[in-house]
Amino acid sequence: MSVGASRSALVTGVTGQDGALLARFLLDKGYTVYGLQRYAANDHTARIKTLLSNPLFQLRYADMTDGGSLFALLQHLQPDEIYNLAAMSHVKVSFDMPEYAANVDGLGTLRLLEGIRILGLKDRVRFYQASSSEMFGNAPAPQNEETPLQPCSPYATAKLFAYWTVRNYRESYGIHASNGILFNHESPVRGEEFVTRKITKAVAAIEAGKQECLSIGNLDSCRDWGHARDYVEGMWMMLRQEEPDDYVLATGKTYSVREFVTAAFGCLGIQIDWRGSGTGEKGYHARTGKLLVQVDPRFFRPNEVNHLLGDASKARRILGWTAKTPFHMLVRDMVMADRAALRGNDDYDVFLEAAE
Ligand code: NAP
Ligand code: GDD
Repeated sequence: MSVGASRSALVTGVTGQDGALLARFLLDKGYTVYGLQRYAANDHTARIKTLLSNPLFQLRYADMTDGGSLFALLQHLQPDEIYNLAAMSHVKVSFDMPEYAANVDGLGTLRLLEGIRILGLKDRVRFYQASSSEMFGNAPAPQNEETPLQPCSPYATAKLFAYWTVRNYRESYGIHASNGILFNHESPVRGEEFVTRKITKAVAAIEAGKQECLSIGNLDSCRDWGHARDYVEGMWMMLRQEEPDDYVLATGKTYSVREFVTAAFGCLGIQIDWRGSGTGEKGYHARTGKLLVQVDPRFFRPNEVNHLLGDASKARRILGWTAKTPFHMLVRDMVMADRAALRGNDDYDVFLEAAE
């Protein structure tokens, strides 16, 4: 279906996991895609390398902390759709740099919406905001659009500001702006500092004899993990609706970090024997007795979201969206991609193909 034959989209955060996958998805639908990249001394375009030769894909410099650069971009491009995916997206790091997180994730969103308002683009632009299940904090599960938001990290409070700004601009100015409240979604191109990719990379490296042991933080915390390729389609589906609204995207299943570790080693036929508790908990190779997993409190956070489990029934009912990829297939895709990378195939294109 090429409904977007003459449409254009601006994707902020295009160099990240979701941005790269969404850009490919939109190009496949016939969109012209403008990707916002921030300046960096070193190349950070690995995930979108193959898109650079596509004439329908263009990169533009701007920064979420620089309102002038965003206004100039909006004025020049006048896109039909904006997907605001750019963020300082690491929850633990946001405790170290809360002001920056607020600036990029909170004020950055406000700057884009002000641009739409002031430049008179409100009747032509549809706006998607990458809101997060992290905003629920420790609100009881399952969480849906009606669940009270109780953020407990600087990242989450910044995202909460953006979430309410989107709602205010929708109600006050009639801007077609929607929040996607997305639960954790992963892929072979997930950033290596997030727990799933850290685990799958370590599992592949341990199998290859390149790493001894995986050091990890809170094993008890539970996440509703889906596959990013399913979630970028959901973003696009939200902007197909006549009326803007807010939607949870989730799988409706939750697993602990410990279960993710067990599943990842299991993909390579290694069974983990868990022993001990708290910071003394360790995971041993059930057959050889070798230590493979240990807890390191350096990875703990000042505050933790313990249990995320999403209820995406509104998205299913109104958008017709469901998470298609089961947990064990997601884990397998990621482990196998990291294993292939260690065998010399570390091309992001292979990862992206595995992610699609
Ligand atoms: P990601 O891989 O960390 O990508 C973040 C992107 O934002 C990167 O392209 C990064 O650019 C860009 N960025 C950071 N600071 C910027 C700035 N000052 N100006 C312009 N761009 C900037 O994140 P992701 O997993 O794809 O997530 C996409 C969005 O969804 C984020 O907003 C995230 O908070 C949100 N979200 C993610 C999940 C999830 O589970 N993945 C769930 C809910 C919500 P560089 O490449 O230069 O660093
Ligand atoms: N990163 C990391 N590293 N997390 C660890 C580790 C570790 O070594 N050990 C345990 N964890 C736990 C964290 O404490 C957290 O409870 C869980 O694993 C998931 O951590 P992350 O993968 O860093 O993701 P997140 O849930 O904090 O945040 C992600 O999902 C949000 C949506 O709920 C990010 O993608 C956010 O940008 C996103 O909004």
